[in-house]
Amino acid sequence: MSDRVYIFDTTLRDGEQSPGCSMTVPEKMRMAHKLVELGVDILEAGFPIASQGDFEAVDAISREFHWVTVAALARSCTLDVEHAAKSLDRARRPRIHTFIATSDIHLQYKLKKSREQVLDEAVAAVELARQYVDDVEFSAEDGARTDPEYLESISKAVVAAGARTVNIPDTVGYSTPREYGAIIGRVVEVLSDCAIVSVHCHDDLGMAVANSLAAVEAGARQIECTINGIGERAGNCSLEEVVMVLKTRNDMYPYATGINTEHLYAASKLLSSLITFGPQPNKAIVGRNAFAHEAGIHQDGYLKEKSTYEIIDPKSVGVPESKLVLGKHSGRHALNQRCQDLGFSLSKEELDALYRRFTALADCKKGLMDEEIVALIAETQIKQAAAN
Ligand code: KIV
Ligand code: ZN
Repeated sequence: MSDRVYIFDTTLRDGEQSPGCSMTVPEKMRMAHKLVELGVDILEAGFPIASQGDFEAVDAISREFHWVTVAALARSCTLDVEHAAKSLDRARRPRIHTFIATSDIHLQYKLKKSREQVLDEAVAAVELARQYVDDVEFSAEDGARTDPEYLESISKAVVAAGARTVNIPDTVGYSTPREYGAIIGRVVEVLSDCAIVSVHCHDDLGMAVANSLAAVEAGARQIECTINGIGERAGNCSLEEVVMVLKTRNDMYPYATGINTEHLYAASKLLSSLITFGPQPNKAIVGRNAFAHEAGIHQDGYLKEKSTYEIIDPKSVGVPESKLVLGKHSGRHALNQRCQDLGFSLSKEELDALYRRFTALADCKKGLMDEEIVALIAETQIKQAAAN
């Protein structure tokens, strides 16, 4: 089995359909440009039946970035599939992504259909999509809560109908790594080399990344994810996190992606500027504090040897540099380093005096800005000069 894992980005579809995240067509184009630069393998640009904007975004993105596979989402019904096909009319590498729910809960309460009906509709949608494009993906919505035997049957049926990728979403973020890995392993086994098995995890229990990785270990070779982990409710698997786990812990996960990781931070920043919120400060990889060290012991160790407290080179994800935050937990070593970085070379007495002033001030603040440090240095030097 290949060790290449395909990154299917759904920032512009699943991500965009969550509160505060809608984007205009020009905004989607800007984001798509960044995603292409980042090296995503498949870019899901919208759900064309849902709105004219989605239709136009799929059309515009697939024409502009013709060398990238662009996917359009469609429910498993004629109208949706035809709409998706039309939006991809001018694409060079079109993918129709059709889905239907397969869990008994969804069948009973939402669709009010039998398993046989759903299987027939799934097969019919894939067959119809194949009349327009070669690259068809089928998703078994709520797959993680679907009876595994039925999931195997529907997966085999859609592949026989022409699907090249079978996606098993954990739509409600309910699964756990061991459980999800086992489900995916079964589908991988029944499909063998006939299709790529894909994963799509939501983060309701904070396990979307862990579940996606468990699925890769079980044989999945496509991960559906979003920048900053945006998406329905608690969001989707975060692209930057899952990619950086594969890169940083390649000893544990010997798989490759085509992502140019040094563009991750810029992609996160751009998305934050287009939607109404950014990642929380302590968000892994792209949060404001992801490479900030404040505790004195940490700063001391970091200044001696970065690897003591840093497992990722910030430059490798496009973050300009690590930040030593000078706050009440910082030590003399870090303060001295910051003075030198700011162009001041202090005597031992000056540093001692500065450190006393600094701790008194830092005790009642959340962290000191460089300008405040410079003002403290000036004040200290004046007082020291007067005392001598
Ligand atoms: O979460 C989900 O099940 C989805 C599908 C439409 C792929 O987003
Ligand atoms: Zn989803």
